[in-house]
Amino acid sequence: APAGADYDVLVIGSGPGGYVCAIRAAQLGFRVACVEKRETLGGTCLNIGCIPSKALLQSSEEYHAAGHDFARHGIVIEKMSLDLARMQANKDEVVSANTKGVEFLFKKNNITWLKGFGKVTAPHTVEVDGKPVTAMHIVIAAGSDSAPLPGIETDEKRIVTSTGALALDEVPKSMLVVGAGVIGLELGSVWSRLGAKVTVVEFLDRIVPGVDSEIATAFQRVLTKQGLKFKLGHKVTKAQTKGKGVAVTIEKVAGDKAKGGEPETLEFDVVLVAIGRTAASKGMGLEEVGVALDPRGRVIVDEHFATNVPGLYAIGDVITGPMLAHKAEEEGVALAELLASQAGHVNYGAIPGIIYTWPEVATVGRTEDELKAEGVDYSVGKFPFTANGRARAMGCTEGFVKILADRKTDRLLGAHILGPDAGALIAELVTALEFGASAEDVARVCHAHPTLSEAVKEAALAVEGRAIHI
Ligand code: FAD
Ligand code: NAI
Repeated sequence: APAGADYDVLVIGSGPGGYVCAIRAAQLGFRVACVEKRETLGGTCLNIGCIPSKALLQSSEEYHAAGHDFARHGIVIEKMSLDLARMQANKDEVVSANTKGVEFLFKKNNITWLKGFGKVTAPHTVEVDGKPVTAMHIVIAAGSDSAPLPGIETDEKRIVTSTGALALDEVPKSMLVVGAGVIGLELGSVWSRLGAKVTVVEFLDRIVPGVDSEIATAFQRVLTKQGLKFKLGHKVTKAQTKGKGVAVTIEKVAGDKAKGGEPETLEFDVVLVAIGRTAASKGMGLEEVGVALDPRGRVIVDEHFATNVPGLYAIGDVITGPMLAHKAEEEGVALAELLASQAGHVNYGAIPGIIYTWPEVATVGRTEDELKAEGVDYSVGKFPFTANGRARAMGCTEGFVKILADRKTDRLLGAHILGPDAGALIAELVTALEFGASAEDVARVCHAHPTLSEAVKEAALAVEGRAIHI
């Protein structure tokens, strides 16, 4: 490392990976700077991802509840209307409070924010808008961008990525979502609740690939009941703005025997392209200094987040693994601790994934599909929310808790929940998995009554056929 480097740790990117790494490194006594090209800190997550999407999910959920569920409680609203501008302004306020929060944390921890575009020009040197800065350790936390759909251009007004879909100033009458993944279903739900007719086109023959298929099937049923239409096994081959809307050509994906069926052309006010995200590793000098990338453009790192170039590390969406904020954060902490010669570590087997629709989907560990494919001998415990008193009082009895345990040892292998507040409920099972608990351990813990968490206890009891309330 160069003697007298400007900083000990220089992080490129201030998303959940980068800013958390910077804070942990500062806590450990390093002199830290973070390069960010955006006007505000917090990366994709705080500016155009997790936070604004959750603000709109919350608002649209309240709107939908006021229009559809309040009456059941005897609350009568004579005249209700939507002020979308206020809803969007609230979202902006939430985002701004969060990004300013990171700015405050940087000041508190003496982290220098180098505003500008960072380009790696030599192993220990980054040029920020052309000005060289040196550091012992450089951390690439550049995140990811929406994957483009070949041949279809986004204008962020009518043909949009998630970024445009978070900022619409009018509720579209109709919306086509391309991709039945997390973004498509969350943002599709937002606009559907606000009044749009939403159709989802998915390449595969199922929604949310990777999620336990029993949960996914039940989830699709719930979303269909809420008004979302699904075209599985279909692809979009053309989308062109036409008048005020978009003309879209949709075709069946060709199967083994059948050729793709007759293409149909439909019109929508807005098309949301949500077919995944790609690592943002290009254009920042990585290839020039010899950093190895995989075929999907992700930075290749070893188990200590080191690239093949000494002094250069990478974390978060720009490397392999689930593209999740909390995964990036764990990696940021682990890397900072490793740089301080501590034992930083991430357990990739216990990273929860949550889809913030209503009801929510929450998963951790192995799916039943994976256990079957691997020939693992497992037991299943399930408990439906219809049998949970609190869920009944809430008027949300859709879904169930599913716990998978090793048949011989009873050790927890995975947990999957479709239901109200599933995202909060899964935390207990993440902890249990992390501690190597058995289903019996979870079943023996006292759970307060009446809470949704009793469904978790009951599912754990059900692993041995001992659930009380079913
Ligand atoms: P990012 O957050 O992408 O941050 C990277 C930052 O680096 C950016 O600000 C970028 O401007 C900056 N940068 C890149 N290159 C340079 C350069 N050369 N110079 C200077 N700056 C640079 N995850 C969840 O866990 N929960 C959710 O609910 C959730 N919701 C999401 C909703 C949407 C609509 C989207 C798009 C994503 C969502 N995600 C969610 C995913 C989550 O946002 C990402 O996993 C997370 O932001 C990754 O963090 P990161 O630090 O790796 O990168
Ligand atoms: P995704 O990977 O979740 O889903 C993409 C979907 O599009 C898949 O079902 C895929 O089969 C389908 N697809 C791919 N190409 C297609 C095509 N040509 N035509 C039709 N369908 C096609 O990706 P998504 O939803 O864009 O989200 C990106 C990332 O952001 C995810 O990896 C996710 O982890 C993260 N994210 C997380 C959230 C959360 O944690 N709640 C919320 C939003 C995003």
